[in-house]
Amino acid sequence: MTAISHSGSSAGVTRQYAPYVQADWGFANHWYPALLSSELEDGTAKGVTIGGHDIALRRSSGKTYAVSDRCIHRGVKLSAKPMCLSEGTITCWYHGFTYGLEDGSLTTIVGNPDDSLIGKAGIRTYPVEEVNGIIYVFVGEEDFGTPPPLASDLPAPVTNDPNDSPVPHLLDEGIVIRGIHRKLVGNWRLAAENGLDPGHLLVHWDNQILVALDRALPLGVNALTDSATEEIDIEDGPKGVMNRYDRPDLYQPVLDNPKVNMKARGTVPHYFRTSLWVPGVLMVEHWPITDHVQYEFYVPIDDHHHEYWEIIATRARTDEEIAEFNFKYDNFMLPLALEGFNNSDVFAREATEEHYTRFDGWNNEMLCDMDYSIIAWRKMAARHPRGFFESPYLDED
Ligand code: FES
Repeated sequence: MTAISHSGSSAGVTRQYAPYVQADWGFANHWYPALLSSELEDGTAKGVTIGGHDIALRRSSGKTYAVSDRCIHRGVKLSAKPMCLSEGTITCWYHGFTYGLEDGSLTTIVGNPDDSLIGKAGIRTYPVEEVNGIIYVFVGEEDFGTPPPLASDLPAPVTNDPNDSPVPHLLDEGIVIRGIHRKLVGNWRLAAENGLDPGHLLVHWDNQILVALDRALPLGVNALTDSATEEIDIEDGPKGVMNRYDRPDLYQPVLDNPKVNMKARGTVPHYFRTSLWVPGVLMVEHWPITDHVQYEFYVPIDDHHHEYWEIIATRARTDEEIAEFNFKYDNFMLPLALEGFNNSDVFAREATEEHYTRFDGWNNEMLCDMDYSIIAWRKMAARHPRGFFESPYLDED
């Protein structure tokens, strides 16, 4: 293949996706996963940070709410010592400011119920959706208006190949979901790009799951045409880019490199396909095994940390099917895929962070032909930004 026109390292290339480079704290006004449902018990609260927004999640009378995690009185985090004294409220543990969960208004102060501030102030609230065991929060500008549907910020159920066996969508009924999430060093974009990157397969070369299954993983996957990465831009819906590994006319696996005497290991072919969606969600179809799907969210915490979400879903309706999935998840997928295979990705992202932080990596990188889909992703993400998170700290730009 001849050099892809996107390749290079000039400022001109960077300008083609300038809004993406600007999004160091992440894209605002999107739905992001905040907690697994199983992590939030009724009658308590938990704090998360998304794009610099400190948010307290509270479940009350079976409904889940999200409010600002900063008390208006002296600024402590409500979630530092959750105090839930009555249904429909959350109380600051320090001096007793108590807020209504529906609208965030200051409803009382525990030790001064006649205070003149009551009813005149409050904390902001955030829209919440809870589906299939994941709590999502819409995070961004307070006056954004009605949020778009959650589905617009999740990978689309794409079935653009007649031989495809579609994997479950996160909002489908009759599916089972398990997963983990963890705070990692690294800008969210470096994590997202690593997931999509066709050139990063080398980091997985010696992973246990591949050896155990004798699974054939090439050294790389090279595009045969400039259009190998499919752009999916649904009006008022999901926007992403897809590596069409299912199309042998578009991609060619690299199985050996005689110059370094290296050959791809494994003999069992395995079909999977990767795609990356705004605001930063990876879908790996038929991974870690056929008829399962791995979703990864790269949720910006600040400009140097992200919450790495790894979710595996499959269809399971009967108790027996669910029990079988849980057995495989606990004894195979969690240790060998999420904590085994993907720890190689974690290592790579954390190693990349220094260059992009200290050496202006966005303007000082030498991209090559195999970075075609990363460029396509950057352009797609830059095309229709709903907004940008900004540093909430006074001592930073
Ligand atoms: Fe919250 Fe005083 S800091 S009530």
